[in-house]
Amino acid sequence: MATERGLVLEARDIVKRFGDREALKGVSLGASAGELVAIIGPNGAGKTTLLSILAGIQRPDGGSVSRSPSEIGWVPQQAAVYGKLTVAENLRLFARLEKCPDVEVVVDRMLDQTGLGDRRDDPVAELSGGNRQRVNIAIGLLAAPEVLLLDEPSAALDPRQRARLWEFIGALAAGGTTVIYSTHNVQEAERYAAQVVVLADGERLFAGSPRELEQTVGASDLDFEEAFVAFLRQRGH
Ligand SMILES: Nc1ncnc2c1ncn2[C@@H]1O[C@H](COP(=O)(O)OP(=O)(O)O)[C@@H](O)[C@H]1O
Ligand SMILES: [Mg+2]
Repeated sequence: MATERGLVLEARDIVKRFGDREALKGVSLGASAGELVAIIGPNGAGKTTLLSILAGIQRPDGGSVSRSPSEIGWVPQQAAVYGKLTVAENLRLFARLEKCPDVEVVVDRMLDQTGLGDRRDDPVAELSGGNRQRVNIAIGLLAAPEVLLLDEPSAALDPRQRARLWEFIGALAAGGTTVIYSTHNVQEAERYAAQVVVLADGERLFAGSPRELEQTVGASDLDFEEAFVAFLRQRGH
């Protein structure tokens, strides 16, 4: 792991139990400024649990996180937006909850940043999936966090909306925001992550670049998704 670099966020040995089930068995993760980090792994691997602990939504049973959740933006898979309220009303509401000092300035900045200005007075329920996802992301970014966490951000989007989502996220990272996301889409991780973290059954099996993961498997004829599946199999998953 790249511990020598200046890490913006570092989680060490995170443990989480639900009853006698260990959902995270001592998972560590480090991310530097402007880095795009993808967390990939089978269903039930612990991706959502790990992200929600980093976001301060759940408490770990062990381990530590270097940064306070108040400094971390969070975009859950199931967003808490109000469908009957407009885009601007939702942003205003969450800006107040976040105790943003100048609510109207922040709301205008977020509408501008996410390209939702012409949708500001539309009820969120009437937006396309892609635009609704932008509202969710805008809420995660209200406090201008250095680190943004997204749980399965592309899961409900069509290919064109996906492309626009990654363009937006790429620009955020290029501007210095550290972005950590989970995804089912392994190809997305290959294309849009500098660091890939592989979780399976609550264990971190790998952290490194997509190329390094392929090299770990040692079969040069596989594409990334095939290499990922082969890697899991080699590790008994
Ligand atoms: N609130 C909860 N109560 C009990 N078990 C949970 C809870 N949340 C998650 N789990 C369990 O923890 C494991 C990891 O879940 P999760 O983090 O949602 O995985 P992923 O997001 O990778 O699919 C799963 O076995 C899941 O059933
Ligand atoms: Mg999940």
